[in-house]
Amino acid sequence: MKFHILTLFPEMVDACLETSILGRAAKAGCISFHSVNIRDYTLDKHKKVDDYTYGGGAGMLMQAQPVYDAWRAVQEEASQKETVEGVEAESALREETVECAARESVKALPVKRLRTVYVTPQGRTFTQEIAQELAGEEELIFLCGHYEGIDERVLEETVTDYISIGDYVLTGGELPAMVMIDAVARLVPGVLHNDESAETESFSGGLLEYPQYSRPPVWHDKEVPPVLLSGNHQKIDQWRLEQSIKRTKERRPDLYEAYMQAHPEGLNPKKKK
Ligand code: ADE
Repeated sequence: MKFHILTLFPEMVDACLETSILGRAAKAGCISFHSVNIRDYTLDKHKKVDDYTYGGGAGMLMQAQPVYDAWRAVQEEASQKETVEGVEAESALREETVECAARESVKALPVKRLRTVYVTPQGRTFTQEIAQELAGEEELIFLCGHYEGIDERVLEETVTDYISIGDYVLTGGELPAMVMIDAVARLVPGVLHNDESAETESFSGGLLEYPQYSRPPVWHDKEVPPVLLSGNHQKIDQWRLEQSIKRTKERRPDLYEAYMQAHPEGLNPKKKK
């Protein structure tokens, strides 16, 4: 899976994505990252990418032209790759004719269109479900805004998904984009090793993960729950499910309610209808 990140701060994105599990997966070829500096596409001789907003108001806005041309360069590269490989990746790409709004000299061209996520507090809130949905794509574009945002006209022409990471405002889109990329990338086959399995963790199954323990068996006078040392895997599974349900009820009553509606039997399978 390939992630394209359109940003004014590629060094920030590269430093993060080269590190740890994602960096290892990229080296192994399971995923790849392509950060694109939007500033490289400005036609302004001073390399400016922002300007005042029409109608007044504080702050600067990212202009349509450099954003559009950076996005279009990625689309064209993906379209060429498609043609060369002769592959129809229909889940990732939609045929679409895109008008070039920024440069009148460029005619409307048919290009394959990659799903383009604009990270913004105005989007739907990112969840594990959305991560799973995005992990089904072969390539994704993340568009990171700065200043007061991006000219609406270029968003209308490029963006397929508006996604937020929560109801708070950050200084730019890079951190939210990396949060989403991390959550999506770890679902790509091969990114996690067996001991880092994507399946058994919080949210898969709608419950938070049970408490976990490692050596030593006693630390600060606290003992590891004896059942975990018993070797009885049926009992261990039962204990873990109980702990997951208890923890979810205490920490995320909203998730607990949803889980109990979907599993009215709770811990007692005999109650199942
Ligand atoms: N950009 C600034 N704040 C954001 C947020 N909460 N989610 C996504 N993008 C953002």
